[in-house]
Amino acid sequence: MNMRTANCVATDSLTRSRELVWPELRAAVATLDPRLSVMSGFSLGWCDVDGEPSEGGGKGLRPTLALLGARAAGGRPEAGVPGAVAVELVHAFSLVHDDIMDGDERRRHRPSAWKAYGVGPALLTGDALLALALETLAAAPGEERAEASRLLSGALMELVGGQAADVAFESRPWTGPGAVSVEEYQDMAVRKTGALLGCSAAIGAALSGAPATVTAGLSEMGRHLGLAFQMVDDILGIWGDPDVTGKPVCSDLRRRKKTAPVLAALAAAEAGGPLIGLLDDTRDERGLRRAADLIAAAGGRDVAEDMARRHLDAALRILSGLRLDAPATAELVALAESLMDRRR
Ligand code: IPE
Ligand code: IPE
Ligand code: MG
Ligand code: MG
Repeated sequence: MNMRTANCVATDSLTRSRELVWPELRAAVATLDPRLSVMSGFSLGWCDVDGEPSEGGGKGLRPTLALLGARAAGGRPEAGVPGAVAVELVHAFSLVHDDIMDGDERRRHRPSAWKAYGVGPALLTGDALLALALETLAAAPGEERAEASRLLSGALMELVGGQAADVAFESRPWTGPGAVSVEEYQDMAVRKTGALLGCSAAIGAALSGAPATVTAGLSEMGRHLGLAFQMVDDILGIWGDPDVTGKPVCSDLRRRKKTAPVLAALAAAEAGGPLIGLLDDTRDERGLRRAADLIAAAGGRDVAEDMARRHLDAALRILSGLRLDAPATAELVALAESLMDRRR
């Protein structure tokens, strides 16, 4: 499948899942305390800071994975809806708290929740979104909800561990003893991002009563996809266009985040000295832009892209080995391919 076709098919999948999932997501958020409901609606993109209707929001990748996972396992997409709602709520919770941790002032083309409402209310909004995710699964029909809940709580345990590692890496040196290795980066990224994508891919299948081999395979596929996705996110964090991503650029460099392109550039011996000098002066914005150029010149961007491609290929190999429903598998392949080419 060429990239253009993949992007068109992926856009269709995302649109159809939004049509099925968003009304349920909004109905769930409407059950929250009114203040928390407005702040959640703002974070999810359907209202402005005062609760007036507006357009916006995320790509909806995780709920789409959940519905496609359900179909791939032979279920109806509807069976995956509670799982789709739950993973998007967990994702939204993680972003609201992440922006506080990362000190980022913009998200999804608007002020981040802590900027709009203050840190305390933003923390509560994240808590509310998380509680609602658990509540949604607890209310799902059928005994399969127990397995779905187990998948979600397992992903949450990993996500918070991955976030803890991500934050701890900020204080580690760029090189020498104590530097973060590529293996440590991968372990952090698979936990902070891969675990929830793995859960998203498996949760709809679990709710459809799929056998453990199928949910485990979909989960493993999603984890590789998550690693690729995070590496692309790292690239967009340095060279992306904030008008397209809706997030600040160079914030990872400012926070001394150990991202894939930087670690890859530092591993190329010739990049060492001048690059580290620039990276260490985090208040010099022009210096950080020059650091971005040096990272690219040292091959950091290309290596990160190659690493992402390898994880995407691993995801596709696992998917093809599962031999699931062919049309749903084709949509999953297109969605996965489109993630490599994304600009936001
Ligand atoms: C951003 O996720 C956070 C990461 C895990 C890299 P998305 O890029 O899926 O965010 P939205 O939902 O589209 O805003
Ligand atoms: C992504 O965090 C993972 C979670 C929020 C759990 P990042 O900090 O890497 O993602 P962005 O770039 O802020 O979206
Ligand atoms: Mg962040
Ligand atoms: Mg972060």
